[in-house]
Amino acid sequence: MASYPKIVVTPPGPKARELVKKDESLISPSYVRFYPLAVDSGKGCIVKDVDGNEYIDFNSGLVCLNVGHNHPKVVAAVKNQCDRFLHYSNTDFFYKEVVDLAEKLSAIAPGNFEKKVFFGNSGAEAIEAAIKLAKWHSRKQLFIGFISAFHGRTMGALSFTASKPTQRRYFFPLMPGVTHVPYPYCYRCPFKLEYPDCHYWCVDFIDEYVLQKYVPPEDVAAMVFEPIQGEGGYVVPPPEFFQRLKKLADKYGILLVDDEVQAGMGRTGKWFAVEHWDVEPDIICSAKALASGLPLGATITKAKVMDWSGGSHASTFGGNPLSCVAANAVIDIIKEERLLENANKMGTYILKRLAEFKEESEIVGDVRGKGLMIGMELVEDKESKKPASQKANEIMTRSWKRGVAVITCGASTIRIAPPLIITRELVDSALDILFDCAKEVEKEA
Ligand SMILES: Cc1ncc(COP(=O)(O)O)c(C=O)c1O
Repeated sequence: MASYPKIVVTPPGPKARELVKKDESLISPSYVRFYPLAVDSGKGCIVKDVDGNEYIDFNSGLVCLNVGHNHPKVVAAVKNQCDRFLHYSNTDFFYKEVVDLAEKLSAIAPGNFEKKVFFGNSGAEAIEAAIKLAKWHSRKQLFIGFISAFHGRTMGALSFTASKPTQRRYFFPLMPGVTHVPYPYCYRCPFKLEYPDCHYWCVDFIDEYVLQKYVPPEDVAAMVFEPIQGEGGYVVPPPEFFQRLKKLADKYGILLVDDEVQAGMGRTGKWFAVEHWDVEPDIICSAKALASGLPLGATITKAKVMDWSGGSHASTFGGNPLSCVAANAVIDIIKEERLLENANKMGTYILKRLAEFKEESEIVGDVRGKGLMIGMELVEDKESKKPASQKANEIMTRSWKRGVAVITCGASTIRIAPPLIITRELVDSALDILFDCAKEVEKEA
């Protein structure tokens, strides 16, 4: 059996450097690249660069490849669809592929009630649809969002995104009516409290200091949240958080919009991460891994919530047939290959190894996660908990140079999000490299 990773030339090699140079002269400088990985091809959990280096993909192509690169069943479904038809706008006509997918998504999404689905092309579009639908259905204008959230960069989604000033700078005014509240980041509690002695003050705060003081609850359409904050740092809320949030939402008749763009499609060992809290949201947004890297966004709602009228919302390419057949294959593969089980099994193993490593390291402040959505937060020292952003970046870059394509999130968290098909051998190989790099960086400080 081949062993990975395989580094044949120190990355970035000559071909990668050439491509990056050309890219820089032609492509929008608004993108932030983690490091110069120039992709040639991918298979399973391995991504190969243009110079022949093969990396263990510990970020799944920005958390999009839950069933791995180029899964043969996804590729076959797309090829077959290419021979039939590439496009016939579902906004104005009909085809089976999109209905089949809506049926499958309705079956796996939490809640034993009838559902309806709107299809767009991206995570941000899934959020846009959720915002517009919440307004349309409720006839209300206000929203609650969370600090450090990431929901995308179109103007509506951006009104909720709040993880870095650079995402919003010079783009005001955004959509009015969004009030941000602290997210339950227990390792760095915004209220400086400790779980469980805090008694979920983060939820009571929304009621007592926001809804009862200056955001009239009867005017609030929805609360929009990530079940685990992704870009914000792989932050996992405490056990009862979403039940309590739901209780608060129910008290005032506010809808819950659950952004599962990064955490969904099996990533956390359940189809949708919010299931870990046993909560059934009114609206769920999915994208990223939904179609294994092909553009697709889905906004899945209680059927009675999706009551808007013809012409109120649509998108020419939304639910395009190639993406839909890929997504249908993704759902089948996750079931057939028991990938939820593997995500749980490998996730538990990774968390165990991370917890052991945390004990021997002075710069690993926290490890947390569910399934294969795992964060390792780096600090300057465990007492001050000062985020060690530079160290996190250095560990990421060194790991990549040694063959592990891992990326950061939040201020100083390494995110570990391999495809759900990852094996124990690849996990061990990648973690050994990651830990070696972390030890080197710690020693050099
Ligand atoms: C939780 C979450 N929501 C929304 C988005 C936006 O998705 P897209 O980049 O497809 O618009 C992202 C992207 O990272 C995300 O992580």
